[in-house]
Amino acid sequence: MAAVNIVVFGCGRMGSVHLTTLAGLTGVRIKWVVDEAGVHPRVQQVLESLRLQTTNIADIADIDTVLGDKEVTSVVICTPASTHESLIQAALKAGKHVFCEKPIGLSSDSVTSSYRLAAEKGLTLYCGFQRRKDADFSQVCTKIRQGVIGTLRLIKVTSRDGPSHNTADFLKHSGGLFLDSCVHDLDVVCWLAGERPLTLVAYGHAHEEMFAECQDVDMTSIMVKFPSGTIATIDNSRIGAEYGYDQRLEVLGSSGMLKIENPRTSNVQQWGDVGTVLAPMIHDGVQRYLAAYRKEMGHFIDIVKGERECDMTAESVITVSQMVELCQESLHAGGSHCLCRSSKYRLHRQLHVQAPHAG
Ligand SMILES: NC(=O)c1ccc[n+]([C@@H]2O[C@H](COP(=O)([O-])OP(=O)(O)OC[C@H]3O[C@@H](n4cnc5c(N)ncnc54)[C@H](O)[C@@H]3O)[C@@H](O)[C@H]2O)c1
Repeated sequence: MAAVNIVVFGCGRMGSVHLTTLAGLTGVRIKWVVDEAGVHPRVQQVLESLRLQTTNIADIADIDTVLGDKEVTSVVICTPASTHESLIQAALKAGKHVFCEKPIGLSSDSVTSSYRLAAEKGLTLYCGFQRRKDADFSQVCTKIRQGVIGTLRLIKVTSRDGPSHNTADFLKHSGGLFLDSCVHDLDVVCWLAGERPLTLVAYGHAHEEMFAECQDVDMTSIMVKFPSGTIATIDNSRIGAEYGYDQRLEVLGSSGMLKIENPRTSNVQQWGDVGTVLAPMIHDGVQRYLAAYRKEMGHFIDIVKGERECDMTAESVITVSQMVELCQESLHAGGSHCLCRSSKYRLHRQLHVQAPHAG
């Protein structure tokens, strides 16, 4: 069978992770890596470390040449969020399947228009929400669907970044805490609940000056209610978890509870007079999910080869992008007044922001 020829846009943190996976997959040829000319020496090093001698490096100005390459069928986008919409649209118009790191776009209108274009062209647009491919999260989802804990009542997500590497420059281009980070949590709660959310409310605060200066918050608490009555709470922060990358899950049902704790750098425990000493937690989110990133990229390649159906619907990704906007709206309203009458969201008729005392 002919190889799947791929272009990877962006060879930074996530680009390197996905390149590593792609380099190890049989039947895949990374034909191009596109990044800014200034970082080409770093791209060269990554390619050499992966023994990718035949991969071409291109500048972002060469996008037409790269997307015009008839051998290329698929594009992997690992660039900053602000570039996603234009790259996705250019790739789809050139007839390529697309894997894009979250978020698909900066607004729900942008996400919707990209999915509409993908549908018109009959191409896949796959969003990287790797927690769906994590073995523990997948198992929790399966157990919920099997009814192991009875009727679902509460989903509690904790997502706190480890020791922070955030800079003002990153924050200004990140799209904010909801778009850049909470998207994962919002997707997880909808996926586990298995239904579209009804209402949400979000509070947030900038404890550190840098976040306030960047008009962002560093900590948020979001509550989501689903039509069945299931309530989800999300506690997400970019600061404060100096003890490590803290991502936990608790799901309460009518006849039991499911829980995911943080993996540690070692399973060895030290028991003694002062109690039990556990090994440190993993400090980096990307390290924690390496296996999940490999699995999601494998899934994308299977879709491209026509061996599998895409398991993430456009509707679910669009819903999450609408929830991000509603979080922002609720935050600015201070959770203090009802926004159900907001004309934009009345049009959608599927989600409403509300004050915490209503509903
Ligand atoms: N799924 C996850 O857990 C996860 C984790 C981290 C980042 N991300 C997402 O991955 C994406 C990339 O983040 P990152 O941390 O790898 O960023 P990064 O800054 O480390 O890398 C981005 C790279 O893209 C390059 N670039 C910028 N504009 C470009 C363009 N127009 N064409 C080609 N290359 C371009 C930059 O030079 C850089 O090398 C973001 O969308 C981010 O939200 C996802």
